[in-house]
Amino acid sequence: MRVLVTGHQGYLGTVMVPILRAAGHEVAGLDIGYFADCVLGGFAGDPAGRRVDLRDVTVEDLRGFDAVIHLAALSNDPLGALAPEITYDINHHASVRLARLAKQAGVRRFLYASTCSVYGAAGDGLVTEDAPLRPITPYAQSKVRVEDDVAALADADFTPVFLRNATAFGFSPRLRADIVLNNLVGYAVLTGEVKVLSDGTPWRPLVHAADIATAFELCLTAAAVDVSARAFNIGTEVNNLTVAEIAGAVVDTVPGSTLVITGESGADPRSYRVDFSRARDILGFEARWTVPAGAAELYTEYTARGLTEEAFFHRFTRLPHLRGLCEAAVLDDRLRRISVRAPA
Ligand SMILES: NC(=O)c1ccc[n+]([C@@H]2O[C@H](COP(=O)([O-])OP(=O)(O)OC[C@H]3O[C@@H](n4cnc5c(N)ncnc54)[C@H](O)[C@@H]3O)[C@@H](O)[C@H]2O)c1
Repeated sequence: MRVLVTGHQGYLGTVMVPILRAAGHEVAGLDIGYFADCVLGGFAGDPAGRRVDLRDVTVEDLRGFDAVIHLAALSNDPLGALAPEITYDINHHASVRLARLAKQAGVRRFLYASTCSVYGAAGDGLVTEDAPLRPITPYAQSKVRVEDDVAALADADFTPVFLRNATAFGFSPRLRADIVLNNLVGYAVLTGEVKVLSDGTPWRPLVHAADIATAFELCLTAAAVDVSARAFNIGTEVNNLTVAEIAGAVVDTVPGSTLVITGESGADPRSYRVDFSRARDILGFEARWTVPAGAAELYTEYTARGLTEEAFFHRFTRLPHLRGLCEAAVLDDRLRRISVRAPA
């Protein structure tokens, strides 16, 4: 298939593109490139792509593709809290506009990167896709709104699918240090401490970036009747862990590290355990990576590629990096770039 990946120069996109190509798809990218230069060590390089702001996409950008995989977004809660209206602009309005234009351009399949954080404060029971959605943050609310609005576009010629990904982990050359396992391993490598800021009790389902990529690949070719306008939790019950358990896996992996639970950020209301049986039954999806295996991979890559404190706390952490681009006048206060229509 000819597949357009938005956000191909992000953490997940950089892992996903080679996996889609290996499955035989022809891949192109579209990204504003906020993190294009944020690479740890070498990598094979990006596919042909366009440097376009999602808010400015035209129908011409989308013609000729069989499918769009839509990853581009302000991708976490701190970013959403910093600028809720920009989060709604990009993550909600521009995403729904993208789906409408894709349909108009004759794209038949639209795979959307949603999140398990749509379940919010869900307690200790396992939540299925039919559980009530209780998004707590602007980031999670924007994801729910896109699911609702894009589901309404589904018809015989247009198949939207919503992949509610667990929190990702694992090495990507375009690293993100602000997601829990990547963060805990990096901090331990740099300081010797596995530092948990919450009280450690919230449930956090985790899934490896490569497993997410496999789930998207399965959704490209699944029968439309099985997936159209449906949500799928993407992860595995084995990786439904508390933050304290995740931290324990890191202590076991990083030699000489010690666990410190500070509790300084107070109770974290975002807590959910997730049932992943729908993706297993309908897509045949099985996540392969466990958290200890992911911690070991991260430890190996961080040490081999020479992770530094500056890179960990700034270049690979979304919020300070974007703040830096604004201070350097690369981006304006709406996070828009100058001279954006260029090869990515
Ligand atoms: N990483 C996770 O744990 C996780 C979990 C669940 C869902 N998701 C979702 O998956 C998607 C990808 O996540 P990620 O971790 O790779 O995030 P990321 O921040 O690494 O990548 C996002 C990409 O989107 C691009 N982008 C942002 N705003 C844009 C705009 N206005 N125009 C064009 N491009 C723009 C950025 O330049 C970046 O390359 C996001 O939608 C995120 O919400 C991620």
